[in-house]
Amino acid sequence: MSAYHVPVLVEEVCEALAPIAEAATIVDCTLGGGGHSEAILSRLGAAHVIGVDRDPAAIQFASERLASFGDRFCAVHAPFSGLRAILADLGITEVAGILADLGVSSHQLDRRERGFSFLGDAPLDMRMDPTVGPTAAEVLEAIDARTLARLLRDFGDEPDAQRIASAIVEVRPTTTAALASTVENAMSARQRRQIGKRIHPATRTFQALRIHVNRELEELDRFLADAPGLLLPGGRLAVITFHSLEDRATKRRFVRLSKAADLPQGLPIAAADMPKAPYTIPPSFRQGKTASEAELSTNPRSRSARVRVLERAA
Ligand SMILES: C[S@@+](CC[C@H](N)C(=O)[O-])C[C@H]1O[C@@H](n2cnc3c(N)ncnc32)[C@H](O)[C@@H]1O
Repeated sequence: MSAYHVPVLVEEVCEALAPIAEAATIVDCTLGGGGHSEAILSRLGAAHVIGVDRDPAAIQFASERLASFGDRFCAVHAPFSGLRAILADLGITEVAGILADLGVSSHQLDRRERGFSFLGDAPLDMRMDPTVGPTAAEVLEAIDARTLARLLRDFGDEPDAQRIASAIVEVRPTTTAALASTVENAMSARQRRQIGKRIHPATRTFQALRIHVNRELEELDRFLADAPGLLLPGGRLAVITFHSLEDRATKRRFVRLSKAADLPQGLPIAAADMPKAPYTIPPSFRQGKTASEAELSTNPRSRSARVRVLERAA
């Protein structure tokens, strides 16, 4: 296992992609430490994997890890919202499998200097791709309290959003420790005691800011709009989500695509001639799949993970 990141739901992802032909091309849109890609390359003996990540550190680490697979693996540094263009650049129009394992890697959280974590102190960065876009500190430098409160509510489900936002705007912290203590100090003692039993008081604020800095929901929306149309007939798309915003967006899109067009009632059409849905959700993935007891006991990160699967009709 790689110390860079321990992948979640590997068995379930391999099960989701198993019906795909052995010599298929599969895009791993969130390469990270390359754990899922390695499992796919090992188990689907002749498959080719295109590994995409917006983090140059992931591209470098996984490229070295997967070098022994030779030309069966190639890596692309890009955001997955550009999947259509990434494939077009490679001369590919459709692929047999697409995987996205959303969120951040353990490596990103663990490297203090990346500025994702309230444990330890470092400049407040939080960019998955440190080569583009404003840092979290730059966002906090310019934002007003009302907008920030909305972000904390929408992306962090933070009940104390208004109070925390006002405190942050007053201090405008530039380091992870300063942000964590500003949030902690802004909370009422009761709130701090209640939340502190389960999670660090700044957990929700850090999650909300990270989602905003990396435009995670816009990225996911564009990905969900494009990825199904890039599947070959019979091809499968697997998405691993970690929180309700990601999961709701993925579920809605998959359910919409797996419904046949509605026809006015009473039309004289035989059942066999009724329009079919262009996509299906495989029956064993109807509710998505979550981690097994065995995985939960060894990888706490798997606790909130759910994999959803969509298949293009053959
Ligand atoms: C949970 S980790 C993936 C771990 C990986 N499956 C493994 O086995 O090691 C998520 C990765 O996706 C990348 N990522 C997140 N959002 C992205 C996006 N919109 N475009 C490209 N990469 C993204 C992150 O940089 C991170 O490396």
